[in-house]
Amino acid sequence: MAGQIPQHFIDDLLAKVDIVDVIDKRVTLKKSGSNYSACCPFHNEKTPSFTVSQTKQFYHCFGCSANGNAIGFLMEYEGMHFVDAIESLADSVGLEVPRNAQAKQVRDDSKPLYTLMESIAAWYQSELRKSPEAIDYLKARGLSGETAKRFGIGYVPDGWDGLLTHFPGEEAAMLKTGMLIQGNGGKRPYQRFRKRIMFPIRDRRGRVIGFGGRVLDNQEPKYLNSPETPLFHKGSELYGLYEARKAAQDAAAAIVVEGYMDVVALAQHGIDNAVATLGTAANQQHSEALFRVVPNIIFCFDGDRAGRAAAWRALTATLPCLQDGHDAHFLFLPDGEDPDSVVKAGGAAGFRDLMSTRIPIIDYLYQHLASELDMTSIGGKASLAEKTKPLLATIPRGVYKQLALQRLEALIGLSLGSKPATSREAAAPQRPASPSRTPSGKDSGLTPMSRAVLLCLQFPQVVSTVPADDFDINPQLPGADVLLKLIGYCDSDPQMTTARLLERFRDGRSNDYLVKLATKPYYPDGSDIDSEGATREFAHCIGRLRERSRQTLADKVELSARTGLLGLRRR
Ligand code: UTP
Ligand code: MN
Repeated sequence: MAGQIPQHFIDDLLAKVDIVDVIDKRVTLKKSGSNYSACCPFHNEKTPSFTVSQTKQFYHCFGCSANGNAIGFLMEYEGMHFVDAIESLADSVGLEVPRNAQAKQVRDDSKPLYTLMESIAAWYQSELRKSPEAIDYLKARGLSGETAKRFGIGYVPDGWDGLLTHFPGEEAAMLKTGMLIQGNGGKRPYQRFRKRIMFPIRDRRGRVIGFGGRVLDNQEPKYLNSPETPLFHKGSELYGLYEARKAAQDAAAAIVVEGYMDVVALAQHGIDNAVATLGTAANQQHSEALFRVVPNIIFCFDGDRAGRAAAWRALTATLPCLQDGHDAHFLFLPDGEDPDSVVKAGGAAGFRDLMSTRIPIIDYLYQHLASELDMTSIGGKASLAEKTKPLLATIPRGVYKQLALQRLEALIGLSLGSKPATSREAAAPQRPASPSRTPSGKDSGLTPMSRAVLLCLQFPQVVSTVPADDFDINPQLPGADVLLKLIGYCDSDPQMTTARLLERFRDGRSNDYLVKLATKPYYPDGSDIDSEGATREFAHCIGRLRERSRQTLADKVELSARTGLLGLRRR
């Protein structure tokens, strides 16, 4: 998605907006020294540890480590997608986001479609008010008028052409959005949904993009959903996310259930942070979308075999999203129950009781794998290690991966060479064997590579103080690929800032490592370095790295010793 918006535009935008204005509109900032500060909007605190740097165009919380540039702030604070955040910032400074012609066409074409879908939803709502049968059905299922209204639930009467008579002239648009189906042999189109309770499906901005419709009796199919259309992509949308967002943020968790009625029934009982997949298994796009809003996902499944199969798919889809700070749990309901039936019988308290039986994702992973093996035998333990290996490999580097590996070691009673997961910085390439001395005589606690990266990030102008020929560093050195990229970016633009550098790594593997260095004090005692010191230190680090680049033989030995975190030893 980011690829649709040219980098030069993002640069211009970040140069034009001021992060202090952007944040101050949402969280009142106070000037403190050269920075601005506030109580952190991302965690509860009484004394301010959230700071905004105008020179770096970057925010950082010392309490919860939240950090980013203006784009990142809107994504975190408003739960916006990348493209939405760019659009919102561009609006605020009067820039128009350039798009490739095709994307622009889709956007322009879609505007009337959204409006039409909204009008159709409103018509369905008005039809619900006129239908005692539909109202009785919803009442019998325990829904109040208020809840129905909150989710925009409506009703479509029986018949083939209700939409055609109510929205004359919109035939083409209604075919495009899947509301009408083209008749065979040149016959008139007819409406897809007839005599059904209608659940509007909204996108993250609240626009109606599709519908789910339920029959009032036992007919098949029980639910009918909008097909894939230019507006609606079933595999990546979550029912109820728009409605649940605020409550989910407050609860710092979202509950993923299987059905429309589960979401609505939970909300009826005051559990407002549930969303549902749309008849598909939870996939990685779903997990990514949810982790943009909350740090924890609770997957809720039926206890039957189908539920367990769906749960395992959700687990494999979520492992790659477990960066530090993210978490997921699994809740299995008793066979034959769904969240709707649980709250109906036991109320919110009944559901919360069950919630306390949820299990952490890593526990579920091992439980599931071990249940198929004889863990008392050596063969069983060996095959647990074999089966776990490809799954653990999908977890991003960090504390989670370390914990998962340690758990495996405990289960099979064998050391696989994992390091204790004490540091949140397990993602950093290579830890120093011993802290290195710097010319200032103070300990920096970082390797020369990390120091050089930190200095580039925090003081992009230092790059121009070193002759270009001196950057002949061996790209094979751990971390050199990132450093050389940073140097290239700084070199090509004397106006480079921390925020703009980080923007170039947003979706990359190194992002977490870089944002940490961008906010880290240079010295381990917490003191920062000034720009004069930065120039001196940077030249020194580059010198050290050039020395190391010449020790090629030593490098080779070291590379072979560092073969992957997951070097599981075979028995
Ligand atoms: P369920 O059959 O578990 O639905 O399907 P439910 O939510 O418990 O339905 P109620 O309580 O009988 O009203 C779960 C989800 O699977 C999809 C729908 O998204 C539904 O919410 N589904 C189910 C379909 O798409 N088509 C169907 O025929 C059935
Ligand atoms: Mn149900």
